[in-house]
Amino acid sequence: MPEFPENFLWGGATAACQYEGAWNEGGRKPSCYDYLTNGSHQKMRTATWKDSEGREGFYNQYFEQFEEGQIPALHLDRYYPSHQSTDFYHHWKEDIALMAELGFKCFRLSISWSRIFPEGDDMKPNEEGLQFYENVFKECSKYGIEPLVTLQHFDVPVSLAIRYNGWADRRLIDFFERYARTVMERYKGLVKYYLTFNEINSLEHTGYVTGGLLHHTKEDLWQAAHNQLVASAKAVKAAHEIDPAIMVGMMLAYEPIYAATCDPKDQLLLMERNRSRLWFADVQVGGFYPAWRKRLYQKHGFQLNDTPEDYELLQDYSADFLSFSCYGSSAVTTHEMEVGNANAMPNTVKNPYLETNAWGWSIDPDVLRIALNQLYDRYHKPLWVVENGLGWSDELSEDRHVHDSYRISYLKKNLSSLYQAIDEDAIPVLGYTVWGWIDLVSAGTGEMKKRYGLVYVDMDDLGQGTLNRYRKDSFDWYRDLIASNGKILDNE
Ligand code: BG6
Repeated sequence: MPEFPENFLWGGATAACQYEGAWNEGGRKPSCYDYLTNGSHQKMRTATWKDSEGREGFYNQYFEQFEEGQIPALHLDRYYPSHQSTDFYHHWKEDIALMAELGFKCFRLSISWSRIFPEGDDMKPNEEGLQFYENVFKECSKYGIEPLVTLQHFDVPVSLAIRYNGWADRRLIDFFERYARTVMERYKGLVKYYLTFNEINSLEHTGYVTGGLLHHTKEDLWQAAHNQLVASAKAVKAAHEIDPAIMVGMMLAYEPIYAATCDPKDQLLLMERNRSRLWFADVQVGGFYPAWRKRLYQKHGFQLNDTPEDYELLQDYSADFLSFSCYGSSAVTTHEMEVGNANAMPNTVKNPYLETNAWGWSIDPDVLRIALNQLYDRYHKPLWVVENGLGWSDELSEDRHVHDSYRISYLKKNLSSLYQAIDEDAIPVLGYTVWGWIDLVSAGTGEMKKRYGLVYVDMDDLGQGTLNRYRKDSFDWYRDLIASNGKILDNE
């Protein structure tokens, strides 16, 4: 009989830039994310800009950069999904009541930095912003729901991007520390769990989205990563000083990668792929830069802008736990093979053993057990699955329901795999927050139709709709699962 740990934190996850909306209300100023247009599986989202001569243009959010003199700017003829998102800002009471109905023990959300410090480096916080989240946390506490708060989920205040080139500049370490201390002090007693940077390792691929860098060399990204890692250690220090009960986690994008063949060249490729993301955790959770990483910098003749104190902080204030996102797995090879997902990293190929969703994301029944074991064997710290879920083009039926048996089937497989990691492998897992427990805007494509929710939100790809909320079949299933603390998995 599956028996999840007694205090297992069942819940759901969201991010301000995809869920909160009200981008220009309550004293908030824009973040870099507010300049991202919608896109699709075939067409990447773009970041729009203008220059001092009034010229306008756009860049692919992942692969291109702004040029000197160009700054993020809105274009009148484009649609920017983060401005409204699915409007948690005006639906928070209703949504928290739905979470309570589900029996959530935990709600992962992110604070929008520019709602608290509109310019990012202000000396004084915006009281209206602070009050908004205080209301949210108090409402959660009414229902016994623990917030899990991400401090930066892809939404660096745009003012920091324009004036400092984002995280490339060391001064952001202090601005972030001020922001972290401000919220931790204000929400003392209301918030016990924090994450510093969402998917910090995505910085290597999306300098603009994850780091607020308008332009960069490879070395700028390395510096930005160092700055975020030190800032994260400072946030851990602040948390422990403010309230020893607070736990601060790191958040890693971690989907197991398989070598598609036993060719040693594929094994080497796999090794490189793995360490190119795990080094972030080696530093943030383990407390040390791995030797290969230092050698890489040395070989490039690159000297980090660092201080001896940085390394003391990294060692003394490593993260209290390691959280990660994991939706499926991927396969890599040096050989010619069928490509699964057009937007995936180079050398990523289709895994013939697995099904995929319409966006090419694999559905892997064993993925959580594999990920949890790999991470626990390496870091020996408590783990937390803070993102996992299935994006699907759900249809609202005439009975105002979504019959999403495919999502229930995905969740069953994934949670059984997670349970095996707890039961067979004795891995300490703090909790599980299903991604996008309520429909929100897709980060990758900016679409609404890539829905993850247990709750359907009536809004289309261009932001049209009533924003009414409707329970899907998966809502009932997840509610029963939580009520039984996982036991109903046994009946499947
Ligand atoms: C993670 C992000 O990478 O994946 C989320 O932390 C994101 O913000 C999620 O929404 C799913 O990706 P997508 O592109 O389907 O929204």
